[in-house]
Amino acid sequence: METTSTLKITKRDNSKIADVDFNNLAFGSVFTDHMFSVEYVNGQWQQPEIVPYGPISMDPSAKVFHYGQAVFEGMKAFKDDQGDIFLFRPEDNWERINTSSARLAMPELPKEVFMEGLMELLKLDEAWIKAGDGNSLYIRPFHIATQPGVSASPSDRYKFMIILAPAQSYYSGEVSVVFAEKYSRAASGGVGYAKAAGNYAAQFYPTNLAKEEGYQQVIWTDANTHEYLEEAGTMNVFFRVGDKLLTAPTNDTILNGITRKSIIQLAEAAGITVEVRPVAVKEIVEAAQAGELKEIFGVGTAAVVVPFKSFAYKGEDHKLNAPENSYGVQFKKDLNDIQYNRTEDKYGWRVAV
Ligand code: COI
Repeated sequence: METTSTLKITKRDNSKIADVDFNNLAFGSVFTDHMFSVEYVNGQWQQPEIVPYGPISMDPSAKVFHYGQAVFEGMKAFKDDQGDIFLFRPEDNWERINTSSARLAMPELPKEVFMEGLMELLKLDEAWIKAGDGNSLYIRPFHIATQPGVSASPSDRYKFMIILAPAQSYYSGEVSVVFAEKYSRAASGGVGYAKAAGNYAAQFYPTNLAKEEGYQQVIWTDANTHEYLEEAGTMNVFFRVGDKLLTAPTNDTILNGITRKSIIQLAEAAGITVEVRPVAVKEIVEAAQAGELKEIFGVGTAAVVVPFKSFAYKGEDHKLNAPENSYGVQFKKDLNDIQYNRTEDKYGWRVAV
């Protein structure tokens, strides 16, 4: 698929960066000066544009509002101590947004449109990326159905956009989780593997219930039996039992996380046994009772690696005290060292902007 012409850039007159307190950033609440946008009309991607960040205008009947035909990605850019900027495995995000789009009957976005738009946008708003551990620029590409009309059928017009938010940590405090016993995130044959907007909306209500009970996240279980642990909705999940690491295999209900697969590679390179297989609730509860469960941590682009303080199941809380040689702490460091260009990148994950 091709676009009709090359990237057009319209710059903002005055940057709003001076108004931003970079030491107090609530995740995803402040956006940079510019955004990338390209429309899909008549079976073709049109001229891509970078324009000043701001509201967009859409018909109230646009299908995205009524049928949730929307997918997105989460990526990050990092600045090293010399001021150079790097992305982490960006091609994987391009591939995944197309996998998600295909599931929601949306058109594929050409790689060069995604990459050129992203690179030029990052160069333009480069000052918004702060160096130093914990600082990054969160990148939110998204793809929505814009055709007016409420007939329940796929749109024939779309908009793909990229917006950027300077970021620090996603979770500010400790994270306790509860294993899902009643609600489900994704069903077999559904859209759980896609980064579909509706997958996130569907979690808000049960996650609010969990929050009322004092848990920050739900670890979702399989929708059929609730016997197997899947993912945490904003993160994939790893369980350390003894010295082994367990994580569920990606399938049609679990997101193919880029941080997840990077950590599997890092763990294997460190000589750690990683079992990618269905993880039963029962075995994790039993491992906790036997003192064999050493850690549970969530991994994702926004969250990076988040150790869980405890998990709850059937009304019982199980405390987790990460050992001295915490895998979660080690993997976070290993990942960050690659992302911030502090170490050799054996895997070819780092991409200079
Ligand atoms: C990400 O980690 O980038 C995600 O998309 C999760 C989102 C809920 C912040």
